[in-house]
Amino acid sequence: MDLKQKILNKQAKISVIGLGYVGLPLAIALSTSGFKVYGIDTDKNKIKSIVSGKSFIEDVKSEDLFNLISTKNNKKNSFEVSPNYSSIEISDVIIICVPTPLTKNKEPDISYIQNAVHSISEKLKLNTMVILESTTYPGTTEEILLPVLQSSNNRNLKAGKDFYLGYSPERIDPGRINQTIHNTPKVVAGITKECSKLIHTFYETIVDKVVTVSTTKTAEMVKILENTFRSTNVALANEIYLICDKLGINVWEVIDAAKSKPFGFMPFYPGPGIGGHCIPIDPHLLEWKLKTLNYNTRFIGLSSEINESMPQHWIEKTQDFLKLNNKSIKNSKILILGVAYKPDVADTRESPSLCIIEKLITKGAKVDYHDPLVKNITIYNNNMKSISNISLEKNLRTYDCIIITTNHSTYDWNKIQEKTSSIIDTRNALKNN
Ligand SMILES: NC(=O)c1ccc[n+]([C@@H]2O[C@H](COP(=O)([O-])OP(=O)(O)OC[C@H]3O[C@@H](n4cnc5c(N)ncnc54)[C@H](O)[C@@H]3O)[C@@H](O)[C@H]2O)c1
Repeated sequence: MDLKQKILNKQAKISVIGLGYVGLPLAIALSTSGFKVYGIDTDKNKIKSIVSGKSFIEDVKSEDLFNLISTKNNKKNSFEVSPNYSSIEISDVIIICVPTPLTKNKEPDISYIQNAVHSISEKLKLNTMVILESTTYPGTTEEILLPVLQSSNNRNLKAGKDFYLGYSPERIDPGRINQTIHNTPKVVAGITKECSKLIHTFYETIVDKVVTVSTTKTAEMVKILENTFRSTNVALANEIYLICDKLGINVWEVIDAAKSKPFGFMPFYPGPGIGGHCIPIDPHLLEWKLKTLNYNTRFIGLSSEINESMPQHWIEKTQDFLKLNNKSIKNSKILILGVAYKPDVADTRESPSLCIIEKLITKGAKVDYHDPLVKNITIYNNNMKSISNISLEKNLRTYDCIIITTNHSTYDWNKIQEKTSSIIDTRNALKNN
Protein backbone atom coordinates (compact mmCIF):
# COMPACT_ATOMS: atom_id res chain seq x y z
CA MET A 1 0.00 0.00 0.00
CA ASP A 2 1.44 3.42 -0.85
CA LEU A 3 1.75 6.14 1.78
CA LYS A 4 -1.25 8.12 0.53
CA GLN A 5 -3.50 5.07 0.86
CA LYS A 6 -2.10 4.30 4.31
CA ILE A 7 -2.89 7.86 5.39
CA LEU A 8 -6.40 7.83 3.95
CA ASN A 9 -7.12 4.43 5.57
CA LYS A 10 -5.61 5.68 8.87
CA GLN A 11 -3.19 2.78 8.72
CA ALA A 12 -0.16 5.06 8.66
CA LYS A 13 1.85 4.81 11.88
CA ILE A 14 2.84 8.18 13.26
CA SER A 15 5.67 9.30 15.53
CA VAL A 16 5.37 12.68 17.24
CA ILE A 17 8.72 13.97 18.53
CA GLY A 18 8.52 16.39 21.48
CA LEU A 19 5.47 15.99 23.72
CA GLY A 20 5.06 19.51 25.04
CA TYR A 21 2.42 22.19 24.52
CA VAL A 22 2.37 21.46 20.77
CA GLY A 23 3.26 17.78 20.43
CA LEU A 24 1.05 16.25 23.12
CA PRO A 25 -2.28 17.76 21.97
CA LEU A 26 -1.34 16.89 18.37
CA ALA A 27 -0.51 13.28 19.29
CA ILE A 28 -3.82 13.00 21.16
CA ALA A 29 -5.78 14.47 18.23
CA LEU A 30 -4.16 12.04 15.77
CA SER A 31 -4.62 9.09 18.07
CA THR A 32 -8.27 9.98 18.76
CA SER A 33 -8.91 10.25 15.04
CA GLY A 34 -7.83 6.63 14.55
CA PHE A 35 -4.09 6.67 13.85
CA LYS A 36 -1.62 4.61 15.83
CA VAL A 37 0.64 7.21 17.42
CA TYR A 38 4.06 6.85 19.05
CA GLY A 39 5.16 9.79 21.18
CA ILE A 40 8.86 10.42 21.75
CA ASP A 41 10.26 12.80 24.36
CA THR A 42 13.76 12.92 25.83
CA ASP A 43 12.28 14.18 29.12
CA LYS A 44 11.73 10.97 31.10
CA ASN A 45 9.53 12.75 33.65
CA LYS A 46 7.10 13.70 30.90
CA ILE A 47 7.06 10.11 29.65
CA LYS A 48 6.39 8.85 33.19
CA SER A 49 3.59 11.32 33.65
CA ILE A 50 1.94 10.37 30.33
CA VAL A 51 2.26 6.65 31.04
CA SER A 52 0.46 7.15 34.34
CA GLY A 53 -2.26 9.05 32.51
CA LYS A 54 -1.41 12.40 34.11
CA SER A 55 -1.51 15.38 31.82
CA PHE A 56 0.84 18.31 32.44
CA ILE A 57 -0.86 20.54 29.87
CA GLU A 58 -4.12 22.39 30.56
CA ASP A 59 -5.51 21.68 27.09
CA VAL A 60 -5.11 17.90 27.46
CA LYS A 61 -7.42 16.24 29.96
CA SER A 62 -5.82 13.50 32.05
CA GLU A 63 -8.94 11.46 31.44
CA ASP A 64 -8.43 11.60 27.64
CA LEU A 65 -4.78 10.70 28.04
CA PHE A 66 -5.61 7.79 30.32
CA ASN A 67 -8.17 6.49 27.83
CA LEU A 68 -5.66 6.44 24.97
CA ILE A 69 -2.35 5.48 26.51
CA SER A 70 -1.16 1.91 26.10
CA THR A 71 0.80 0.53 29.00
CA LYS A 72 2.25 -2.93 29.73
CA ASN A 73 -1.00 -4.10 31.29
CA ASN A 74 -3.26 -2.10 29.12
CA LYS A 75 -2.93 -2.72 25.37
CA LYS A 76 -5.23 -0.05 23.96
CA ASN A 77 -3.07 0.16 20.89
CA SER A 78 -3.60 3.81 20.03
CA PHE A 79 -0.94 5.87 21.85
CA GLU A 80 2.43 4.70 23.15
CA VAL A 81 5.26 6.85 24.44
CA SER A 82 8.98 6.38 24.90
CA PRO A 83 12.14 8.38 25.55
CA ASN A 84 13.89 6.63 22.65
CA TYR A 85 13.50 6.70 18.89
CA SER A 86 12.80 3.00 18.19
CA SER A 87 9.34 3.73 16.73
CA ILE A 88 10.97 5.67 13.86
CA GLU A 89 11.89 2.36 12.17
CA ILE A 90 8.20 1.56 11.69
CA SER A 91 6.75 5.04 11.31
CA ASP A 92 5.17 6.27 8.07
CA VAL A 93 4.78 9.87 9.24
CA ILE A 94 7.14 11.65 11.66
CA ILE A 95 6.24 15.04 13.12
CA ILE A 96 8.85 17.16 14.89
CA CYS A 97 7.55 19.46 17.67
CA VAL A 98 10.73 20.24 19.63
CA PRO A 99 11.60 23.63 21.16
CA THR A 100 13.26 26.43 19.20
CA PRO A 101 14.52 28.86 21.85
CA LEU A 102 16.95 31.73 21.46
CA THR A 103 20.51 31.76 22.74
CA LYS A 104 21.62 34.49 25.17
CA ASN A 105 22.57 36.60 22.13
CA LYS A 106 19.03 36.26 20.74
CA GLU A 107 20.15 33.90 17.98
CA PRO A 108 18.14 30.78 17.05
CA ASP A 109 19.08 27.66 18.99
CA ILE A 110 18.12 24.97 16.49
CA SER A 111 20.09 22.27 18.29
CA TYR A 112 16.84 20.51 19.35
CA ILE A 113 15.73 20.26 15.71
CA GLN A 114 19.21 19.09 14.67
CA ASN A 115 19.30 16.42 17.39
CA ALA A 116 15.83 15.19 16.44
CA VAL A 117 16.54 15.01 12.71
CA HIS A 118 19.86 13.21 13.23
CA SER A 119 18.13 10.63 15.42
CA ILE A 120 15.44 10.22 12.75
CA SER A 121 18.00 9.84 9.95
CA GLU A 122 19.62 6.87 11.68
CA LYS A 123 16.37 4.90 11.51
CA LEU A 124 14.41 6.42 8.61
CA LYS A 125 12.71 3.81 6.42
CA LEU A 126 11.88 4.47 2.77
CA ASN A 127 8.58 6.20 1.84
CA THR A 128 8.28 7.97 5.16
CA MET A 129 7.08 11.57 5.48
CA VAL A 130 8.89 13.90 7.89
CA ILE A 131 7.12 17.11 8.91
CA LEU A 132 8.60 19.96 10.95
CA GLU A 133 6.07 21.85 13.10
CA SER A 134 8.47 23.79 15.34
CA THR A 135 8.54 27.53 14.71
CA THR A 136 11.75 28.50 12.98
CA TYR A 137 13.41 30.97 10.60
CA PRO A 138 12.63 30.74 6.87
CA GLY A 139 14.91 28.21 5.21
CA THR A 140 15.30 25.72 8.09
CA THR A 141 13.47 22.77 6.49
CA GLU A 142 15.41 23.09 3.25
CA GLU A 143 18.80 24.03 4.69
CA ILE A 144 18.93 21.91 7.86
CA LEU A 145 16.54 18.95 7.56
CA LEU A 146 16.78 18.12 3.86
CA PRO A 147 20.55 17.46 3.66
CA VAL A 148 20.50 15.24 6.78
CA LEU A 149 17.56 13.15 5.57
CA GLN A 150 18.91 12.86 2.02
CA SER A 151 22.09 11.26 3.32
CA SER A 152 20.49 9.26 6.12
CA ASN A 153 22.32 6.02 6.84
CA ASN A 154 24.87 6.94 4.16
CA ARG A 155 22.26 6.55 1.48
CA ASN A 156 21.60 9.06 -1.27
CA LEU A 157 17.85 9.51 -0.93
CA LYS A 158 15.65 11.74 -3.06
CA ALA A 159 12.94 13.88 -1.49
CA GLY A 160 9.56 13.36 -3.15
CA LYS A 161 10.57 9.86 -4.23
CA ASP A 162 12.35 7.94 -1.44
CA PHE A 163 11.01 10.07 1.40
CA TYR A 164 8.79 13.11 1.80
CA LEU A 165 9.57 16.32 3.67
CA GLY A 166 7.43 19.29 4.59
CA TYR A 167 6.76 22.11 7.02
CA SER A 168 3.52 23.00 8.77
CA PRO A 169 3.49 25.61 11.51
CA GLU A 170 1.55 24.88 14.68
CA ARG A 171 -1.15 27.42 15.55
CA ILE A 172 -2.15 26.09 18.94
CA ASP A 173 -3.08 28.76 21.48
CA PRO A 174 -2.88 27.20 24.96
CA GLY A 175 -5.93 27.99 27.07
CA ARG A 176 -8.18 28.88 24.11
CA ILE A 177 -11.10 26.45 23.99
CA ASN A 178 -13.09 27.55 20.94
CA GLN A 179 -10.19 27.00 18.49
CA THR A 180 -8.99 23.43 18.32
CA ILE A 181 -6.53 21.56 16.13
CA HIS A 182 -9.55 20.45 14.06
CA ASN A 183 -11.14 23.82 13.33
CA THR A 184 -8.00 25.93 12.98
CA PRO A 185 -6.84 26.06 9.34
CA LYS A 186 -3.39 24.55 8.83
CA VAL A 187 -0.75 25.98 6.48
CA VAL A 188 1.44 23.36 4.78
CA ALA A 189 4.22 23.14 2.21
CA GLY A 190 6.41 20.36 0.86
CA ILE A 191 9.95 20.34 -0.45
CA THR A 192 8.63 19.00 -3.79
CA LYS A 193 5.17 18.91 -5.39
CA GLU A 194 4.74 15.27 -4.33
CA CYS A 195 5.66 16.20 -0.76
CA SER A 196 3.15 19.11 -0.83
CA LYS A 197 0.30 16.89 -2.03
CA LEU A 198 1.01 14.25 0.57
CA ILE A 199 1.32 16.64 3.51
CA HIS A 200 -1.96 18.27 2.40
CA THR A 201 -3.66 14.85 2.32
CA PHE A 202 -2.28 14.01 5.75
CA TYR A 203 -3.51 17.10 7.58
CA GLU A 204 -6.89 16.92 5.83
CA THR A 205 -7.52 13.78 7.86
CA ILE A 206 -7.69 15.83 11.08
CA VAL A 207 -8.07 19.51 10.10
CA ASP A 208 -11.13 21.10 8.46
CA LYS A 209 -9.15 23.40 6.18
CA VAL A 210 -5.62 22.97 4.82
CA VAL A 211 -3.88 25.86 3.03
CA THR A 212 -0.96 24.82 0.82
CA VAL A 213 1.71 27.41 0.04
CA SER A 214 4.40 27.16 -2.63
CA THR A 215 7.54 26.50 -0.56
CA THR A 216 8.55 25.42 2.93
CA LYS A 217 10.31 28.80 3.30
CA THR A 218 6.97 30.51 2.68
CA ALA A 219 5.20 28.34 5.29
CA GLU A 220 7.97 29.10 7.81
CA MET A 221 7.55 32.82 7.06
CA VAL A 222 3.75 32.61 7.54
CA LYS A 223 4.21 31.54 11.15
CA ILE A 224 6.76 34.27 11.87
CA LEU A 225 4.50 36.89 10.26
CA GLU A 226 1.62 35.79 12.53
CA ASN A 227 3.72 36.16 15.65
CA THR A 228 5.51 39.35 14.55
CA PHE A 229 2.06 40.83 13.85
CA ARG A 230 1.04 40.10 17.45
CA SER A 231 4.28 41.31 18.98
CA THR A 232 4.18 44.57 16.96
CA ASN A 233 0.52 45.26 17.74
CA VAL A 234 0.97 44.53 21.44
CA ALA A 235 3.94 46.93 21.37
CA LEU A 236 1.72 49.57 19.78
CA ALA A 237 -0.92 48.98 22.47
CA ASN A 238 1.78 49.28 25.14
CA GLU A 239 3.05 52.54 23.67
CA ILE A 240 -0.49 53.93 23.35
CA TYR A 241 -0.94 53.03 27.03
CA LEU A 242 2.26 54.95 27.94
CA ILE A 243 1.04 57.92 25.89
CA CYS A 244 -2.43 57.85 27.48
CA ASP A 245 -0.84 57.59 30.92
CA LYS A 246 1.07 60.82 30.29
CA LEU A 247 -2.07 62.53 28.94
CA GLY A 248 -4.28 61.36 31.81
CA ILE A 249 -6.52 59.29 29.51
CA ASN A 250 -7.83 55.79 30.31
CA VAL A 251 -6.30 53.65 27.55
CA TRP A 252 -8.78 50.81 28.13
CA GLU A 253 -11.69 53.13 27.47
CA VAL A 254 -9.96 54.30 24.28
CA ILE A 255 -9.40 50.77 23.00
CA ASP A 256 -12.94 49.67 23.90
CA ALA A 257 -14.41 52.62 22.01
CA ALA A 258 -12.06 52.15 19.02
CA LYS A 259 -13.10 48.53 18.68
CA SER A 260 -16.68 49.62 18.01
CA LYS A 261 -15.41 50.41 14.49
CA PRO A 262 -16.57 47.47 12.40
CA PHE A 263 -13.66 47.60 9.96
CA GLY A 264 -9.96 48.51 9.84
CA PHE A 265 -9.33 48.11 13.58
CA MET A 266 -8.44 45.12 15.71
CA PRO A 267 -8.01 45.50 19.48
CA PHE A 268 -4.72 44.63 21.16
CA TYR A 269 -4.14 45.35 24.84
CA PRO A 270 -1.31 46.71 26.95
CA GLY A 271 0.03 44.82 29.96
CA PRO A 272 3.07 43.97 32.05
CA GLY A 273 5.08 42.91 28.96
CA ILE A 274 4.93 39.86 26.72
CA GLY A 275 5.62 36.23 27.54
CA GLY A 276 5.27 32.65 26.38
CA HIS A 277 7.36 30.55 24.07
CA CYS A 278 6.28 32.35 20.88
CA ILE A 279 5.65 36.08 20.78
CA PRO A 280 8.83 37.27 22.56
CA ILE A 281 10.99 34.78 20.65
CA ASP A 282 9.79 34.11 17.11
CA PRO A 283 10.32 37.60 15.64
CA HIS A 284 13.99 37.35 16.68
CA LEU A 285 14.37 34.18 14.61
CA LEU A 286 13.57 36.32 11.57
CA GLU A 287 15.68 39.23 12.84
CA TRP A 288 18.69 36.91 13.03
CA LYS A 289 18.10 35.50 9.53
CA LEU A 290 17.86 38.99 8.05
CA LYS A 291 21.01 40.12 9.86
CA THR A 292 22.88 37.44 7.89
CA LEU A 293 21.61 39.26 4.79
CA ASN A 294 22.64 42.70 6.12
CA TYR A 295 19.05 43.82 6.65
CA ASN A 296 17.89 45.46 9.86
CA THR A 297 14.31 44.43 10.80
CA ARG A 298 13.22 47.75 12.35
CA PHE A 299 9.69 46.87 13.46
CA ILE A 300 10.95 43.79 15.30
CA GLY A 301 13.65 45.75 17.11
CA LEU A 302 11.33 48.59 18.13
CA SER A 303 8.51 46.27 19.22
CA SER A 304 10.73 44.17 21.42
CA GLU A 305 12.30 47.32 22.91
CA ILE A 306 8.84 48.66 23.90
CA ASN A 307 7.51 45.31 25.13
CA GLU A 308 10.63 44.57 27.14
CA SER A 309 10.48 48.01 28.79
CA MET A 310 7.05 47.36 30.32
CA PRO A 311 8.19 45.53 33.51
CA GLN A 312 10.43 48.53 34.35
CA HIS A 313 7.46 50.85 33.75
CA TRP A 314 5.40 48.91 36.32
CA ILE A 315 8.29 49.04 38.80
CA GLU A 316 8.26 52.83 38.46
CA LYS A 317 4.47 52.85 38.95
CA THR A 318 4.95 50.78 42.12
CA GLN A 319 7.59 53.23 43.33
CA ASP A 320 5.22 56.20 42.74
CA PHE A 321 2.36 54.37 44.44
CA LEU A 322 4.38 53.53 47.55
CA LYS A 323 5.72 57.09 47.71
CA LEU A 324 2.14 58.30 48.21
CA ASN A 325 2.21 56.45 51.55
CA ASN A 326 5.75 57.60 52.35
CA LYS A 327 7.13 54.16 51.59
CA SER A 328 9.70 52.88 49.12
CA ILE A 329 10.15 49.54 47.42
CA LYS A 330 12.98 48.71 49.84
CA ASN A 331 11.50 46.70 52.73
CA SER A 332 7.93 46.97 51.40
CA LYS A 333 5.85 43.82 51.40
CA ILE A 334 4.63 43.24 47.86
CA LEU A 335 2.36 40.51 46.51
CA ILE A 336 2.38 39.53 42.84
CA LEU A 337 -0.92 38.06 41.64
CA GLY A 338 -0.32 35.67 38.74
CA VAL A 339 3.03 34.57 37.34
CA ALA A 340 1.85 32.66 34.25
CA TYR A 341 2.44 34.67 31.08
CA LYS A 342 -1.28 34.77 30.32
CA PRO A 343 -4.56 33.91 32.06
CA ASP A 344 -5.62 30.34 32.74
CA VAL A 345 -2.38 28.61 31.76
CA ALA A 346 0.45 27.32 33.96
CA ASP A 347 3.18 28.39 31.55
CA THR A 348 5.74 30.87 32.98
CA ARG A 349 8.16 30.84 30.04
CA GLU A 350 9.38 34.41 29.36
CA SER A 351 6.65 35.65 31.74
CA PRO A 352 7.07 39.38 32.50
CA SER A 353 5.89 38.67 36.07
CA LEU A 354 9.21 36.91 36.74
CA CYS A 355 11.11 39.95 35.54
CA ILE A 356 8.99 42.21 37.79
CA ILE A 357 9.65 39.94 40.79
CA GLU A 358 13.40 39.96 40.11
CA LYS A 359 13.48 43.75 39.83
CA LEU A 360 11.50 44.17 43.08
CA ILE A 361 13.80 41.77 44.96
CA THR A 362 16.87 43.58 43.62
CA LYS A 363 15.43 46.80 45.01
CA GLY A 364 15.01 45.21 48.44
CA ALA A 365 11.28 44.41 48.49
CA LYS A 366 9.89 41.43 50.38
CA VAL A 367 8.03 39.67 47.59
CA ASP A 368 5.42 36.91 47.71
CA TYR A 369 3.43 35.60 44.80
CA HIS A 370 0.18 33.78 44.31
CA ASP A 371 -0.82 31.82 41.23
CA PRO A 372 -3.59 29.20 41.26
CA LEU A 373 -1.81 27.23 38.51
CA VAL A 374 1.89 27.74 39.22
CA LYS A 375 3.05 26.29 42.52
CA ASN A 376 6.80 26.99 42.15
CA ILE A 377 9.04 29.36 40.25
CA THR A 378 12.78 29.92 40.13
CA ILE A 379 14.01 33.42 40.87
CA TYR A 380 17.76 34.10 40.76
CA ASN A 381 18.33 30.31 41.00
CA ASN A 382 16.20 30.10 44.15
CA ASN A 383 12.96 28.21 44.45
CA MET A 384 9.95 30.34 45.38
CA LYS A 385 6.57 28.89 46.30
CA SER A 386 3.14 30.37 45.68
CA ILE A 387 1.35 31.44 48.87
CA SER A 388 -1.71 29.31 49.52
CA ASN A 389 -5.32 30.31 48.78
CA ILE A 390 -5.94 30.48 52.54
CA SER A 391 -2.98 32.78 53.04
CA LEU A 392 -4.19 34.93 50.14
CA GLU A 393 -7.59 35.35 51.79
CA LYS A 394 -6.18 35.93 55.26
CA ASN A 395 -3.15 38.11 54.64
CA LEU A 396 -4.14 40.33 51.73
CA ARG A 397 -4.32 43.39 53.97
CA THR A 398 -0.76 42.91 55.22
CA TYR A 399 0.81 43.82 51.87
CA ASP A 400 1.94 47.38 51.12
CA CYS A 401 1.12 46.81 47.50
CA ILE A 402 -0.43 44.11 45.32
CA ILE A 403 0.43 43.95 41.64
CA ILE A 404 -1.97 42.12 39.32
CA THR A 405 0.20 40.65 36.59
CA THR A 406 -2.00 37.79 35.33
CA ASN A 407 -5.80 38.02 35.25
CA HIS A 408 -6.62 34.34 35.82
CA SER A 409 -10.39 33.88 35.50
CA THR A 410 -10.57 32.11 38.88
CA TYR A 411 -9.63 35.25 40.83
CA ASP A 412 -12.55 36.90 42.59
CA TRP A 413 -11.66 40.56 42.08
CA ASN A 414 -14.59 41.83 44.17
CA LYS A 415 -13.40 39.84 47.15
CA ILE A 416 -9.82 41.01 46.66
CA GLN A 417 -10.89 44.64 46.43
CA GLU A 418 -13.04 44.34 49.53
CA LYS A 419 -9.88 43.55 51.49
CA THR A 420 -7.42 46.04 50.02
CA SER A 421 -7.20 49.05 47.76
CA SER A 422 -3.39 48.96 47.50
CA ILE A 423 -3.56 47.45 44.03
CA ILE A 424 -1.63 48.11 40.84
CA ASP A 425 -3.50 46.54 37.94
CA THR A 426 -1.36 45.89 34.85
CA ARG A 427 -4.13 43.95 33.06
CA ASN A 428 -7.30 45.97 33.64
CA ALA A 429 -8.54 42.99 35.64
CA LEU A 430 -10.58 45.35 37.84
CA LYS A 431 -12.40 46.91 34.89
CA ASN A 432 -15.81 46.07 36.29
CA ASN A 433 -14.98 47.23 39.79
N1 LIG B 1 3.58 26.63 23.04
C1 LIG B 1 2.91 27.19 22.07
O1 LIG B 1 1.88 27.82 22.31
C2 LIG B 1 3.36 27.08 20.62
C3 LIG B 1 2.46 27.45 19.61
C4 LIG B 1 2.85 27.33 18.28
C5 LIG B 1 4.13 26.88 17.99
N2 LIG B 1 5.01 26.54 18.98
C6 LIG B 1 6.32 26.04 18.59
O2 LIG B 1 6.32 24.62 18.70
C7 LIG B 1 7.60 24.14 19.13
C8 LIG B 1 7.44 23.34 20.41
O3 LIG B 1 6.94 24.21 21.42
P1 LIG B 1 6.31 23.68 22.78
O4 LIG B 1 5.69 24.85 23.42
O5 LIG B 1 5.50 22.46 22.52
O6 LIG B 1 7.65 23.27 23.55
P2 LIG B 1 7.75 22.35 24.87
O7 LIG B 1 9.03 22.73 25.52
O8 LIG B 1 6.47 22.44 25.64
O9 LIG B 1 7.84 20.87 24.31
C9 LIG B 1 8.91 20.42 23.54
C10 LIG B 1 9.27 19.02 24.02
O10 LIG B 1 10.31 18.51 23.18
C11 LIG B 1 11.14 17.67 23.98
N3 LIG B 1 12.41 17.49 23.27
C12 LIG B 1 13.45 18.33 23.16
N4 LIG B 1 14.40 17.81 22.38
C13 LIG B 1 13.97 16.59 21.99
C14 LIG B 1 14.49 15.59 21.17
N5 LIG B 1 15.67 15.72 20.55
N6 LIG B 1 13.78 14.45 20.99
C15 LIG B 1 12.58 14.29 21.60
N7 LIG B 1 12.01 15.23 22.38
C16 LIG B 1 12.70 16.37 22.57
C17 LIG B 1 11.22 18.40 25.30
O11 LIG B 1 11.58 17.53 26.35
C18 LIG B 1 9.80 18.95 25.44
O12 LIG B 1 8.97 18.09 26.19
C19 LIG B 1 8.47 25.38 19.29
O13 LIG B 1 9.16 25.61 18.10
C20 LIG B 1 7.45 26.48 19.49
O14 LIG B 1 7.94 27.74 19.08
C21 LIG B 1 4.62 26.61 20.29
